[in-house]
Amino acid sequence: MHYFHYLDNRLFCEKIPLSEIAAEFGTPLYVYSKRTILRHLDRMESAFKDVSHLICYALKANSNLEILKIVEAQGCGADVVSGGELFLALKAGIEPKKIVFAGVGKTDKEIRYALESDILMLNVESEPELRLIETIAKQLNRVAPISFRINPGIDPVSHPHLATSLKSTKFGLEEKEAQRLYHQASSSKYLEVVGIHMHLGSQIITLSPFYQGAKKLVAIYNELMSSGIELRYIDLGGGLGVPLGESDDVPTPDEYVSHLIPLFENIHATIIAEPGRCIMGNAGILLTRILYLKSTSSKNFLIVDAGMNDFVRPAFYSAKHQAWPVETPTGEEGRFDVVGPVCEASDYLAKDVPLTSPSAGDYLAVMTAGAYGYSMASNYNSRLRPAEVLVDRDNVTLIRKRETPEDLF
Ligand code: LLP
Repeated sequence: MHYFHYLDNRLFCEKIPLSEIAAEFGTPLYVYSKRTILRHLDRMESAFKDVSHLICYALKANSNLEILKIVEAQGCGADVVSGGELFLALKAGIEPKKIVFAGVGKTDKEIRYALESDILMLNVESEPELRLIETIAKQLNRVAPISFRINPGIDPVSHPHLATSLKSTKFGLEEKEAQRLYHQASSSKYLEVVGIHMHLGSQIITLSPFYQGAKKLVAIYNELMSSGIELRYIDLGGGLGVPLGESDDVPTPDEYVSHLIPLFENIHATIIAEPGRCIMGNAGILLTRILYLKSTSSKNFLIVDAGMNDFVRPAFYSAKHQAWPVETPTGEEGRFDVVGPVCEASDYLAKDVPLTSPSAGDYLAVMTAGAYGYSMASNYNSRLRPAEVLVDRDNVTLIRKRETPEDLF
C-alpha cells in the first residue's frame, strides 16, 4: 500500500501532482512519500505488538538522513553494515543501544567505532572476526556485545543474487561452528554473548523459509539455554518482499509475524527484525523524463533521462519494476521498453510497458524504487546522481541536492 495515486489522469504523490514536482526539481528525481513510510513502520511495529521486540531498519535500503530521522522518530533502531551507515544512524539520533552491526568484512576501524559507540550488538560472521573483536575490546578495556549470524542453509526462493542463506554463500556460520564459538566466546572476559541472528535474503515472498530459519534459531537458542548460555535477542534479519506488479501476492507484516510467533511462545528473548525493502520500497519512485522515442523493426524504445547508474535493480537483478505515466493522455496504446542513456545493453528501467501516446518531454514514474534505488546509485558514465525529495501531504522538501559536475572529482 502506498500514496502514489491518480486523480483526473494525473499521478500524485500524496497531495502533490508529480508533474509539479518534476517541473520544480528536475529529473531524474527520487520522490518519497512520508505517509507511506510512516504507515509501513507502523504496520511492522504493530505486527510485533504481542512480543518484546525491536525494529532495526536496514539502512542499506535507503540511508538518506531525513528518512533516518523519520525512522528514529518512530522509535526504531538500525541495522548497519559499515562505518558509514553507523555514522548516519547515530547522526540521525538513533540510540546506540538500538543499533546492530552485520557484515562479513568489518574492519578493525569499524569494530573499534562500533564498540566505542556502545551499540547493541555486533553480528559476528566468522571465527577470525570474533578474535579481532575480542582483541579490540581488550585494547579498549570494554566488553563487546556479540551475536552470531547463523547460515541455516535454506533456500529463500528469491533471485540468486538475493539469496544469502544458501550453504554456498559467504554469509553467517554453520550451526555446529556457531555452537562451538558460542561456548568459546561465553568464557571470554571481553565478549558478552547476547544474541543469535540470521538473514535469509531479500525480496522473499513466501513465509516458509522465514519459518524454517526461525525454527532453527529457536532450536539453537534452547540448546544454548540448557547449557547455561542465556541469549537476550533473537534477530530474524530482514527480507520480506514487496509487490512489484499490481497482482503480486506478498505476505503483509501481520501475516509474516503471526506465522512466526508460535515459535516464540516459551522464549523470553526480545525479537529483532531488520526490515529494509518493505519499509521503503513502495514509499519511493524514480521520476524520469522521456528524451526521445525510437522505433526499430523489433521494438519501440522510450529513451529517458534516468539510467542504470540511477537505478540498477532492473539491470542487476532483472527486477520487473512498473513505469507509470505521470499524466495519462488518451490515444492509442503501444508497448515500450524504457531505456536509459548509459552505454550498456543492460541499461533499461522497464520492459514492455503499456502506454498511450507517450511523447518527448513526458514524465514517467518508475515504481517501487524507494529501496535499493538511490543507495545503489553510482556515477557510472560520469553521470550525476539524482536529487531526492520527501513529500509530506502538500509539502515537498529537497532532502538531497542533485550532484554537480564538481562532485565528480
Ligand atoms: N539485514 C541484513 C543483515 C541484510 O543484509 C539485509 C539486506 C537486510 C537486513 C534488509 O533486507 P530487506 O528487508 O531490505 O530485504 N540490493 C538488493 C537487496 C540486497 C539486500 C542485502 N541485505 C536489491 O536491490 O534487491
